[in-house]
Amino acid sequence: MKERKITKAVIPAAGRGTRFLPATKAQPKEMLPIVDTPTIQFVVEEAVASGIQDILIITGKDKRSIEDHFDKSLELEMLLERGNKHEMLHDVRKLSELAHIHYIRQSEQLGLGHAIQHARFHVEGEPFVVLLGDTIIESATPCVRQLIDVYEQVQGTVIGLEQVTADRVSRYGIIEGDEIAERTFRLRDLIEKPTPEEAPSLYAIGGRYILTPTIFDYLDQTRPGKNGEIQLTDALRRQAEQESVYGYHFDGIRYDIGDRVDYLITQVEYALRRKDLSERFLPYLKTLGRSL
Ligand code: G1P
Repeated sequence: MKERKITKAVIPAAGRGTRFLPATKAQPKEMLPIVDTPTIQFVVEEAVASGIQDILIITGKDKRSIEDHFDKSLELEMLLERGNKHEMLHDVRKLSELAHIHYIRQSEQLGLGHAIQHARFHVEGEPFVVLLGDTIIESATPCVRQLIDVYEQVQGTVIGLEQVTADRVSRYGIIEGDEIAERTFRLRDLIEKPTPEEAPSLYAIGGRYILTPTIFDYLDQTRPGKNGEIQLTDALRRQAEQESVYGYHFDGIRYDIGDRVDYLITQVEYALRRKDLSERFLPYLKTLGRSL
């Protein structure tokens, strides 16, 4: 089999973000900040740290702020330069040079599978990475890098897996598979948002995928599924019937920004990791904890 290198990533960021209204009335949920950094910046940085430079962001309505965020802002650079804010200037410049970012608009929100279909021509028949724009994964080796390493061995679709508790299975796609090597599964089935009774395992699809290009053919055949949406999970299910599809239980902590409590937890944990903030924030949390 011809070995194919992965050079492109796709970030779907076109969801409505209704759980975060009114904050998401005029801006995408992917721009919600974790302390001072928009969620999607962490996602782009993970792709870049994994060796990917070519990124396609699938945007929807009101997504202009994403484009502006990664674009060069001469006005802001001048302002920071004049104010001698060199460190900030460096960060702002670095941000606009992070990667080659392309955008495509999904005009109708028909589901994650439908969003991915918009990447068909951009990926030009090559395998590619998908990173959900509302999920941050904190790990020593970037999660996407871990999945690419597996892909290089198996040369097939690889889905990043996270172990969840039974009460959370109905929020995710859940897999059924056989462990063929440490942390690596060959998948037999995938079910989108099952009830705890229906769930075949506690391994959830964790928002990171390496997809081989035949996925587009399966997506073409996929009709609306759970919640009336065209589900990527349903297309993967068909792919797993015809080809070897793998899952990899990645090493890392997953933060689901689409959930309000998880979002709050992410804020607190990231603030505590920042030395400049934790000096004041940690004593406050300790006092608060004692008073509860
Ligand atoms: C999507 C996928 C689901 C996956 C989840 C991870 O669901 O459809 O399979 O487990 O992302 O966050 P969503 O969160 O868009 O409802």
